[in-house]
Amino acid sequence: MSLDANEARRMLQWLADAGADEALVDEPVDRYAVANRPMMEVPVAAPSTRTNELSPQRVSPAPPPLPLRQAPAQPITAATATARELAAACHSLEELRAAVEAFEGCALKTTAKSTVFSAGPADAPVMLIGEGPGRDEDLEGLPFVGRSGRLLDRMLEAVGLSRQTNAYITNVIFWRPPGNRPPTAEEVAMCAPFLLRHIELKAPKVIVLLGATPLKHVLNAAEGITRARGRWGLYASAGVEIPALPTFHPAYLLRTPSAKRQAWQDLLSLKLKLREIGAA
Ligand code: URA
Repeated sequence: MSLDANEARRMLQWLADAGADEALVDEPVDRYAVANRPMMEVPVAAPSTRTNELSPQRVSPAPPPLPLRQAPAQPITAATATARELAAACHSLEELRAAVEAFEGCALKTTAKSTVFSAGPADAPVMLIGEGPGRDEDLEGLPFVGRSGRLLDRMLEAVGLSRQTNAYITNVIFWRPPGNRPPTAEEVAMCAPFLLRHIELKAPKVIVLLGATPLKHVLNAAEGITRARGRWGLYASAGVEIPALPTFHPAYLLRTPSAKRQAWQDLLSLKLKLREIGAA
C-alpha cells in the first residue's frame, strides 16, 4: 500500500490518538503475521512461576462473549405490519432499497431530503450498522459521509477495510430525524423489518454495531455499549448465525478521544476474526 504524505499523516494521527504514540523499531512489524506464525517459531521463555509477569506467550484473554437473546415480541402497528410485508417480498438488495424508498409509513421521511440506504459493495464480508443519517448524510444520500464518517473511514483503513472494497455500511433508520435527535422506539420499530431483511439479504460474514442503538436493536442486548463493546455476540435469524461485534460510535470517539484505545482493540479483534473465518 502506498500512501501520500497527507494520508500518512492522518494514519499517524489516528494511531497516536489510539495510544500508539511511540515507534519501537525503524521498520514496520506485521503483528498479524507474527501472531499467525506456528507456535514452534515463537521464542520460548523459561516457564515463570509469577503469574502476573508479562512474557511473549501471554495473550490478553478475549472478553466474554455476549449472551444470546431472543428479540422481544414487538407491538405491531399498521405501519410496521406494512413494512414487514414489503420487506418479506424483497429478494435482492436492489428490491429492498426500492421498497424502503417507496415506504411512506415513517413520518421521518417527510422532513428528510433523502432516503439513506447503504454504501459499499454487496459482497463485502463486513456489514457496519450505525444509528441513522445526520445532516451531511441526508444531503448526500449516503451513510457516514460527515465528520464521524471520515473518522470511520480512517479506522477501517487502519485494518485494511474500506467502503470501496470490503465494507458495507448502513443504519438502523433510513431517514434523518429532525435536528439529529435520537430516533424514537416507534421509528426504529417501523424500520426494523427492513433492517432485518437487509441483514438477511446482505448475508455478511461479520456485523459491526456502531454504538448503542444498533447494539440494542440488532442483538437485543441488555448491556449498554460501554459494557458490551469488544465482546462478540451472535446475530441469529432464519437459521443463520453471524458473529457481531459492538464498538463505540465514531461520533462518540470524536467527543471522547480517550476511548479510541478501546476502539482500536475492537478493530484488531475484528481483523483477527476475519482472518479466523477466512474472510480477510
Ligand atoms: N451517524 C450514524 O449513525 N450514521 C450515519 O450515517 C452518520 C452518522
